[in-house]
Amino acid sequence: MSSAYFEGEPNAGAGHTLGLYVHVPFCARRCDYCAFASWTDLHHLSVAYTDACLTQLYRAYDEGLGPAATVFFGGGTPSQLPGDELARLLGGVRRQEGAEVTVECNPEDVTVALLRTYATAGVTRISLGVQSLAPHVLASLGRRHSPDTVPRAVAAIGEVGFRSFNVDLIYGARGETDDDWAATLEGVLGLDPPPPHVSAYALQPEPGTALWRDPDRHPDDDVQARRYETADGVLEAAGLPWYEISNWSRQGHECRHNQNYWRQGEYLGVGGAAHSHLTGRRFWNIRTPERYMAAIAAGHSAVAGEERLEPDQRLLEALELAVRTREGVDTAALADDEALMGLVDRDTGRAVLSLRGRLLGNEVACRLRVPVRTA
Ligand SMILES: C[S@@+](CC[C@H](N)C(=O)[O-])C[C@H]1O[C@@H](n2cnc3c(N)ncnc32)[C@H](O)[C@@H]1O
Ligand code: SF4
Repeated sequence: MSSAYFEGEPNAGAGHTLGLYVHVPFCARRCDYCAFASWTDLHHLSVAYTDACLTQLYRAYDEGLGPAATVFFGGGTPSQLPGDELARLLGGVRRQEGAEVTVECNPEDVTVALLRTYATAGVTRISLGVQSLAPHVLASLGRRHSPDTVPRAVAAIGEVGFRSFNVDLIYGARGETDDDWAATLEGVLGLDPPPPHVSAYALQPEPGTALWRDPDRHPDDDVQARRYETADGVLEAAGLPWYEISNWSRQGHECRHNQNYWRQGEYLGVGGAAHSHLTGRRFWNIRTPERYMAAIAAGHSAVAGEERLEPDQRLLEALELAVRTREGVDTAALADDEALMGLVDRDTGRAVLSLRGRLLGNEVACRLRVPVRTA
C-alpha cells in the first residue's frame, strides 16, 4: 500500500486507542501570549476548511485508518467554527463505542444552543478557556473576555448535561497577586456545576508574541512556583488530585485524549498545523489554512515535514512523557542519586514526582535513563 499517512501496517480497529485531533485555526482576537496557529480574519473559510478536513479524513479512511477512541477539537478556537460545521465534521469521524469527544471553547462563545448542537453531534466533553477570574489579570494577558462570561458558560454546560468538562487556567501574569490566584481557584471550584477537571499552566512568553516583546510583563519563576504549590493544595483538597504536571481531575474525568499522547499512543492530526504520530512516524501538516486547503484540493498530501525516532530515542521520549504523569516511571529509569532526593517518591514501586519534583520536572527529566532489559 502506498500512502501519504501510513508506512507499514495501518493502525488497528476497535479496541485500539487511536486519537484524532482536529485543528480549528480561527480566533475572534489574538491573545498577547498565544503562539498557536490561529487567524482572526479567515472565518469566511469555515465551510471550505471543514470540507478540506473531511477530505483529509476520508483519504485516511481509504488508507486504513481505524475508528478513534478519542477526538479533540483544538485551536485556535473551535467554538468560532459555526456549530453545524463542527457537527458536520464530527459526523465524518469514525468513532469507537463510548469515544471521548472534546471541544475547546472560549467562554464568551458558549450558548445553550451551541452546546446542544455539539451534544447532538456526539460531543461528550467541553474544555473552557477561562485563564483567570480577575479582570486586570485577563487584561494583562491580553485576553478580551470578562469574568462574568464564565458562570454563564458553565451553567450552560450543566443545563445541556455534559458528563465532563475542563477549565483551563494560566498563572504568573504580571499584576496577578497571590490573592488573585487563590480567588481564581476558589471561584472556579465554586462554579455551578463545579469542574471535575482543571488544567493550570505557567504563563510562557512564547517567541513572536506580544508578551514576548514586552519583558516588563514576563513572569517571575519564584512567583510561578508559589502559584503552582497553591494550585496543587487547593485542587487536591477539593478532590481533584494531580495526574499530570499541569492537570488535576476527579477520578474518572481524566482527559483520555491527552493520556494517549502521554503514553506515546497513536493519533492523526487533521487540519492546518496538526501533528500526527502513526506507526512510529511523526508528521505535521502545512501550517496556514489557505495552503493546507490548496494542497488538499489539488489531491496532494498536506504533510509539511516528518521525523522517525530511533528506538532508543523513542524509549527515552516515552520516559520523559511518563515522568510528568502520576503513573511515573520504572524505578530503574531514575538512578537513586542525591540530586533526586526529595524530588522523586518511590513508595509505590514506581518513581513518581513529588510536589517539589513537579516544580523541577526538567531537572528530573534530564536524569532519565532507558533501563537495560535483561530478558
Ligand atoms: C489551544 S490553547 C487555546 C484554546 C482556546 N482558544 C482558549 O483560548 O481557551 C489551550 C490552552 O493553552 C494555554 N496556553 C496557550 N498559550 C499559553 C502560554 N503562552 N503560556 C501558558 N499557557 C498557554 C491556555 O490556557 C489555553 O486555554
Ligand atoms: S489563547 Fe485561544 S483565543 Fe487566544 S489567540 Fe490563542 S487560541 Fe486564540
